[in-house]
Amino acid sequence: MKSATAKSLGMFVLVFGVWAAPAGAAEEAAPTFTKDVAPIFQAKCEACHRPGSIAPMSLVTYQEARPWARSIKDRVAARQMPPWHVDRTVGIQAFKNDRSLTDAEIDTVVRWVDAGAPRGNPADAPASVDWPDESKWYFAEQFDGPPDLIVESAPFTMAAEANDAWWKPRSPTGLTEDRWARAIEIRPGTVAGRKITHHAIARLVQEEVDPAIRRANAANAANGIDRSRTAGTFMEWAVGKQGEIMRPGAGKLMLADSEIQWDIHYSAAGEEITDSAQLGVYLYPKDQTPEHRQVLHIMGAGGVDIPPNSVAVTEGFFPLQRGARIESYQPHMHLRGKAMSMEAILPTGRRRLLSHVGDFNFNWHNSYVYADDSAPLLPKGTLIKVTAWHDNTAANRANPDPDVWVGYGDRTVDEMAHAWVNVTYFDEDDYAAEVAQREAALAQRGGE
Ligand code: HEC
Repeated sequence: MKSATAKSLGMFVLVFGVWAAPAGAAEEAAPTFTKDVAPIFQAKCEACHRPGSIAPMSLVTYQEARPWARSIKDRVAARQMPPWHVDRTVGIQAFKNDRSLTDAEIDTVVRWVDAGAPRGNPADAPASVDWPDESKWYFAEQFDGPPDLIVESAPFTMAAEANDAWWKPRSPTGLTEDRWARAIEIRPGTVAGRKITHHAIARLVQEEVDPAIRRANAANAANGIDRSRTAGTFMEWAVGKQGEIMRPGAGKLMLADSEIQWDIHYSAAGEEITDSAQLGVYLYPKDQTPEHRQVLHIMGAGGVDIPPNSVAVTEGFFPLQRGARIESYQPHMHLRGKAMSMEAILPTGRRRLLSHVGDFNFNWHNSYVYADDSAPLLPKGTLIKVTAWHDNTAANRANPDPDVWVGYGDRTVDEMAHAWVNVTYFDEDDYAAEVAQREAALAQRGGE
């Protein structure tokens, strides 16, 4: 009896196993490009891997993708592509802009390559993706017209063959009075510019007006690095990220005479291209002030001290002066950057690990944007702790020279150890209401 049960149970498991993952099944079960792989490439790769975009090759058609099969398997299995470096085993896991592959998707791609990368039945192919017209502003239709304010960077010419370049000009916003932004878009100025623009960041530079935020910035600043004029707005352009619409009732305050500090990463594209980045801002009407202010903060240490041939750890602390929601997390380090975590130390002393980027890669400045129900709500008095690890040994393949000491600085051979963190602030009543609303939403979801 006992053995019969075990046997039938075993058979059931076997049958179920074949059903769930036909890895060991017959040849005809192998995934095909048209049926299984193309939908994954459309959702997770084409944003960059299509003609005229940033990646070196298109993965849109079978003919284009087939020659890359081996390399695709390597990059996908190692989770190097798509670029997404947040640790999947700790911290918050729901993001608005998650472009990583699921384990099942990786398995499909790997099995497809192992089976000889078969094309499959053309009739199975999904309809091709209709990518938005890149000469138009993305939110223009939604907001009944182009942005209210367009700020342009000074142009840059990238040679056909050249090392990567970081372009950091500054442009006035031209605002003569204070205004609130409700949506922001950033883009290369020309379609050709997309081939060389790896990413572009626009930072609002203005004197902070809120004394509480000034105090927080001052407490966070270390080693005399002045941040009084850097905490402001803004956003980055990266492939596949069109723009940002503030949540209802939230906005970013732009002051008269503010400026935009650009930080643009260009890569050569085999032809000489000149481009300038554009920032488009949709403003709230003049008589409308949003209830909640969203601020992009630098959190973490200002100074770093990284001896030769060593792994160094640097910590920085940012005190929240009001109840807040953390919207996004973007680690910023240079070539020796290895890992960075963001933790909340609550007023009770309890700690909560929010996010950890375990294999930081300087080529990819991802901003991890938390999903609506996951964006952490943290009370006034919370300390945000940012820990950075730098690998200045020969084991770090990006390291230009493990035998030199490295300190803080702007050049890529210098280092930084902070994160860009978008924060929406609440007054006490609104914070309590947000927490209650979140708890109700979670209870409802849990009760389903
Ligand atoms: C955010 C943009 C982006 C996304 C999304 C993306 N890639 Fe890439 N990919 C790049 C860029 C840029 C390069 C070239 C630089 C590099 O190798 O890191 C690249 C390189 C590669 C390479 C190496 C090519 C070579 O020279 O051998 C492979 C393979 C690859 N990607 C596959 C994929 C696949 C498969 C996906 C989706 C599952 C994907 N990528 C998603 C931007 C992207």
